[in-house]
Amino acid sequence: MATASKVGLCVVGTGRMGKLYMELISKYLNNTYLAAVVSRSLSRAEELCKIYNCRPYDNLEKALMSKDVDAVVIATPTYTHADLIIRSCEYGKHVFVEKPIDVDLIKAEGAVRKCRKYGVKLQVGYMRRFEDSYAKAKEVVDSGVLGEPLVYIGISKDPEPPPPGWLRDPRLSGGLVLDLMSHDIDLAMWYLRDVVTEVYATGGNYVVKDLGDYDTVVAHLRMSRGKSALIYGSRKSTYGYDIRSEIHCSLGTVMIGSEANYNLKVCSSKGITVEGYPWFQRKFLSAYINELNAFINSIINDEEPKVSGEEALRVLKVAIAINESVKSGKPVSIS
Ligand SMILES: NC(=O)c1ccc[n+]([C@@H]2O[C@H](COP(=O)([O-])OP(=O)(O)OC[C@H]3O[C@@H](n4cnc5c(N)ncnc54)[C@H](OP(=O)(O)O)[C@@H]3O)[C@@H](O)[C@H]2O)c1
Repeated sequence: MATASKVGLCVVGTGRMGKLYMELISKYLNNTYLAAVVSRSLSRAEELCKIYNCRPYDNLEKALMSKDVDAVVIATPTYTHADLIIRSCEYGKHVFVEKPIDVDLIKAEGAVRKCRKYGVKLQVGYMRRFEDSYAKAKEVVDSGVLGEPLVYIGISKDPEPPPPGWLRDPRLSGGLVLDLMSHDIDLAMWYLRDVVTEVYATGGNYVVKDLGDYDTVVAHLRMSRGKSALIYGSRKSTYGYDIRSEIHCSLGTVMIGSEANYNLKVCSSKGITVEGYPWFQRKFLSAYINELNAFINSIINDEEPKVSGEEALRVLKVAIAINESVKSGKPVSIS
């Protein structure tokens, strides 16, 4: 450990998630500190390092050679993830990588294999598992009080499609299915304690005509022991960010909702309104803190990370199969 039992972190990428992680590491995490920031632009890294009192780099290798960097937080575009994981683990650094693990299955499999070979921890940022209501739902389901979990339903709707750039290009981000709906693929397998072996999906480009990707997809996921999940995703929700889940069990149901930001309803002659969540960073703020804490603890206690590389690979395989199914109109099996 770089500084007496504190884990030194290096954040790579200075966009939405990179900046958020810098702030959370500096403000809320106990057993860690921000040692370095890597950006393609040295001046951008320098600016941020003035705020967070750490070292700026425009070259990942130089940061990886630094002794006070124990682990790397990768917050770059999805198509760059596998390469950065491999480079980091070759220097013996543990890796937290944003979801999805990559867009390319072969490269992602290589990255997971290498992390195992070099004996470093790899955690993937499926953070919904760490938000209080999702974590509590898991406790309830696993306790058995509701009997056996049978069906997972997941709804994920973004208010607006991604802006032009890498995120809007499905070849670089994985598109609606991998970028957004993969959260629900992960949750379906986590709650039902099983893996998806077949998918059938439909979808299309109904609302945002020039998106270059599906804006609406509905997928049926069949698990290895016959249980099911139904997930749907949308890139356009006129009323804001809308994320909901349900786990139907043999003796009851757990529902997780996100409609209301505050426990507040405004009732007037125009009707009853509640204020929704504007965007994901607000809704899942505690989850980002909890997932980083879990990653740091897995390093300190030498435990298996909570969202493993292998789990994220399965999610990627399912997302690829869903896209194939939408295209072919046929069910697709996953080996
Ligand atoms: N878990 C979640 O809730 C959640 C939410 C949003 C996004 N994400 C994931 O987080 C990752 C980053 O997303 P983001 O929204 O933070 O992206 P972003 O705002 O575009 O930031 C990405 C940053 O990566 C750096 N970068 C390095 N190589 C790059 C390249 N070839 N092209 C463009 N930028 C490059 C850039 O920083 P420099 O210019 O400083 O190098 C850029 O600012 C993605 O994998 C995404 O799926 C997860």
